[in-house]
Amino acid sequence: MDRKVVLITGASGGMGREIAKGMKDQFALALHAFSGNIHEQQSETIAHFTADLRNEEECKRLIDEVVKHFGRIDILINNAGISKSAMSWKMSSEDWSETLSINLNAPFYLSKYAIPHMRQHEWGRIINISSVVAQSGFIGTSAYAASKAGLLGLTKTLAKELASSGITVNALALGYFNVGMIADVPEDIQAEIIAEIPMKRLGDPQTVVGTVSWLSTEASDYITGQTINLNGGLLS
Ligand SMILES: NC(=O)c1ccc[n+]([C@@H]2O[C@H](COP(=O)([O-])OP(=O)(O)OC[C@H]3O[C@@H](n4cnc5c(N)ncnc54)[C@H](OP(=O)(O)O)[C@@H]3O)[C@@H](O)[C@H]2O)c1
Repeated sequence: MDRKVVLITGASGGMGREIAKGMKDQFALALHAFSGNIHEQQSETIAHFTADLRNEEECKRLIDEVVKHFGRIDILINNAGISKSAMSWKMSSEDWSETLSINLNAPFYLSKYAIPHMRQHEWGRIINISSVVAQSGFIGTSAYAASKAGLLGLTKTLAKELASSGITVNALALGYFNVGMIADVPEDIQAEIIAEIPMKRLGDPQTVVGTVSWLSTEASDYITGQTINLNGGLLS
């Protein structure tokens, strides 16, 4: 495989689908889904994988299968994520644990099992999809906010551990985009959110696609341990 091999988790979701579409001409894509459908058809450079990322064994199996299929894994995009909405004092321990499992544990385990393969080639990229909610908090999202904030700490530590191995690790803190999980937010709350955004609009996923693609190239090789904010001016 002469192209770099990218694993995109949650490629069946709104944002993952856009990332896959935007990277398919330049990279070999390992596209992961849990229960949903992947839009891009399988081909010589695109393969589909399924895994329930709530447990470590499935994370390990996913990495093993990608490496078996393509012979390598160069770029890991930890994009799969869920959000459970409830006030902290009403959130069930199941919802708390599931959110932490998918949003934080899975990126850790996938990194853990992908890193030895990247180290073999002395090159790699790990890109963690976090959220502005990690930085600002948002009512009703304690588990989500905690998981996404944990991801920023994981990013910084992995970056330091891997800085001399040719592997960079960065996070994107996304604001509010017009695809994916925003569909679960009621319209009146969406209007309130948009009113708070300095650009007064939701983000276009092409901003994420462009940033992820650029982080996946040599042009970003001196950038590691960073949280890149894509949020229309929130927190500015
Ligand atoms: N959209 C936004 O405005 C926004 C803002 C900030 C951050 N983000 C972050 O961007 C990422 C993508 O979000 P999105 O908007 O695309 O959400 P989405 O459309 O709801 O997609 C979520 C993805 O997570 C996968 N998933 C759910 N449970 C899983 C499990 N047990 N094991 C493995 N995968 C599982 C889903 O797979 P299946 O569908 O196949 O089950 C799906 O591909 C998330 O990390 C999210 O936190 C999004």
